[in-house]
Amino acid sequence: MVSVRNVFVLFVLVAIALVSVQAQTIGIHTDATSLVFKVDKSGELRQCYFGGKVESSTYDAIATSGFAAHPAYGKDYVYEPALRVVHADGNLTTELIYANHDQRQLQEGITLTQIVLKDKFYPLTVTLNYKTYNHENIIEQWTEIAHQEKKDITLHNFFSSHLTFQQPEYWLTSFSGNWAKEMNMAEVQLKDGSKILESKLGVRANQFGHAAFLLALDGPAQEAQGTVIGGTLAWPGSWKLSFETDAQNNLKVLAGINPFASQYTLKAKEVFKTPALLYTLSTQGKGEVTRRFHKWARNHNGMHKSERPRYTLLNNWEATYFDFNEAVLKQIIADAADMGFDLFLLDDGWFANKYPRDHDRAGLGDWEVNKMKLPNGVGELVTESQKKNIKFGIWIEPEMVNPKSELYEKHPDWIITAPNRELDLSRNQLILDLSNPKVQDHVYGVVDNLLTQNPDIAYLKWDCNRYITNAGSSYLPANQQTHLWIKYVEGLFNVLKKVRSKYPNVYIMLCSGGGGRIDYGTMPFFDEYWISDNTDALDRIFIQWGTTHFFPPIGLASHVSVVPNHITQRITPLKFRFDVAMAAKLGMDLQPKDMTADEKAFSRNAIKEYSTFKHIIQDGDLYRLLSPYENNRVALMYTLSNQREALVFSYLKQKEIYGNNQILYMHGLDPKRNYTIKEVNNYGMNYSRIAHLEGKSFTGEFLMTHGVRFTM
Ligand code: DGJ
Repeated sequence: MVSVRNVFVLFVLVAIALVSVQAQTIGIHTDATSLVFKVDKSGELRQCYFGGKVESSTYDAIATSGFAAHPAYGKDYVYEPALRVVHADGNLTTELIYANHDQRQLQEGITLTQIVLKDKFYPLTVTLNYKTYNHENIIEQWTEIAHQEKKDITLHNFFSSHLTFQQPEYWLTSFSGNWAKEMNMAEVQLKDGSKILESKLGVRANQFGHAAFLLALDGPAQEAQGTVIGGTLAWPGSWKLSFETDAQNNLKVLAGINPFASQYTLKAKEVFKTPALLYTLSTQGKGEVTRRFHKWARNHNGMHKSERPRYTLLNNWEATYFDFNEAVLKQIIADAADMGFDLFLLDDGWFANKYPRDHDRAGLGDWEVNKMKLPNGVGELVTESQKKNIKFGIWIEPEMVNPKSELYEKHPDWIITAPNRELDLSRNQLILDLSNPKVQDHVYGVVDNLLTQNPDIAYLKWDCNRYITNAGSSYLPANQQTHLWIKYVEGLFNVLKKVRSKYPNVYIMLCSGGGGRIDYGTMPFFDEYWISDNTDALDRIFIQWGTTHFFPPIGLASHVSVVPNHITQRITPLKFRFDVAMAAKLGMDLQPKDMTADEKAFSRNAIKEYSTFKHIIQDGDLYRLLSPYENNRVALMYTLSNQREALVFSYLKQKEIYGNNQILYMHGLDPKRNYTIKEVNNYGMNYSRIAHLEGKSFTGEFLMTHGVRFTM
């Protein structure tokens, strides 16, 4: 028999036990995902579950004993560590244990969880931060490292995140390429050891690849089925993604700043904050990964908000290159207005006098208007555009300098180069050392002067055409040369913050000789991005296909240019070029006076029509229907979340002799609603491919289950 007193004691004990178990289990949730950590007996924080949403009562049934949540080099850890520190006394090892954690709602739908780990002996803390965007199902993860040791410590590995998986198979998709050939997708199975994706370029760090990945756990990634994790690092500098399978076939995924030649001396009380890895886990394939990132970008990544205006623009780069004058530009402005563009963008070549910018070998850095080409200044062109009722935009590359420039003559110490080495030029230019606050002020001043002198400039194209070689800074002390990679990015962000706080309404394009700098750390300062200098429509199908896996289509500037363009020899029809460019943010890059009357009329019509449906691209959910990697026909569609409108793009990469008889199954529609089919960009049906369907209505259910047959 149990006495009343005993029952009471028993009850209290159970309650205490529950409290202590609860305190050591940390669940991080979005609407559809859970990431669960537990503290083990030795005090180590372990990741025990990452998958579809689970309730806390089920943790014990599904969780594994887990893996170190943020492994440091030390004790028995023999794989690539998330953290590697040399302590002030020279100790190479670190042993992290759980200290405390906090979870709070920042606003409706956004929660921040902070878990503090500390070294068992040294006064060093590592705070793991998880900001969850609950409705978009995106997790933003970064770490903060701080210490109070007697002297500086040195950070050798300082990854943003470490995720572990325990599955029979892992399939990794990467996004790599080079100038004019960006964002190629390739999938491999991960086995036996490490696969590293990385950049050591510092600036224009995406030239050979993007810090983005898809990781499929149920065989190769599919569009609508299976578990797929998608992640991308919000950082424009050197980056590293490491995928290491251990001896038991567990997979460890690290993401962060590339630690290569980048060790960081951390002073006591200074906080080292890593960039964030943004990631999501979808149990409905990679299509859902994409839609979540796009939704998140629209809702939370600064300038991609739906309310921002989206200007359809004509750029003069491929029209004139450096060879223009005021009269030539005035004619282009008149033509642009006549064709229905919202904005004219003046590209490279408008500046520098002592060393005129008539080619890419001189003048970069000297940002006063070239008096030979534009005797009445930029203001004259702004006014001319206003007269024609369109806006005016202008190109800058303020981080760079040609040795043949007045800026370099005055400040040879402002460039990135190693001492006692010859200058290493790329596109005949050098990079200004943004770790130096004076250089930051100068770069900000370039933008500020231009916009103060010409307050009606509506748009900037911010270019960046080379990466770091011969790394060295004459500003940083000798023992901090390895900080350059990080300090450069911090300097760039300082400048961009200042620009944005003074000029929130100027529309800015993130360009980097194509897609050399596309990441969610930089994108909040920009409205749109230039993914490639290659405007060949066929190549762009692939480039845009890869890019839009993570980045929002409406920010992806896509310009129709002449054929063959300056890169490929391919001739493609104007309609095809428009159809491809219209799947993102339409613009043109050519000389209107060289077009035939028919081409102009076609373009005018296309630009007008685009403005009637660009809201669907801007706000719609993207569904990939047929992949260019697998099919001759490529198809994608955007569906508005209110399910009232959808837009389908279908291309044939190659004309087939007997046509390409294929059914396209729609997605995301309301099964009960009736949809009427209307072909767009067909120029009065002259170019129709689906005339047999024009004006016909079908239910969403029919379109999704029976689909629509395309024959051409
Ligand atoms: C590279 C850009 O990607 C091009 O569009 C053009 O702006 C050139 N730079 C100008 O130098």
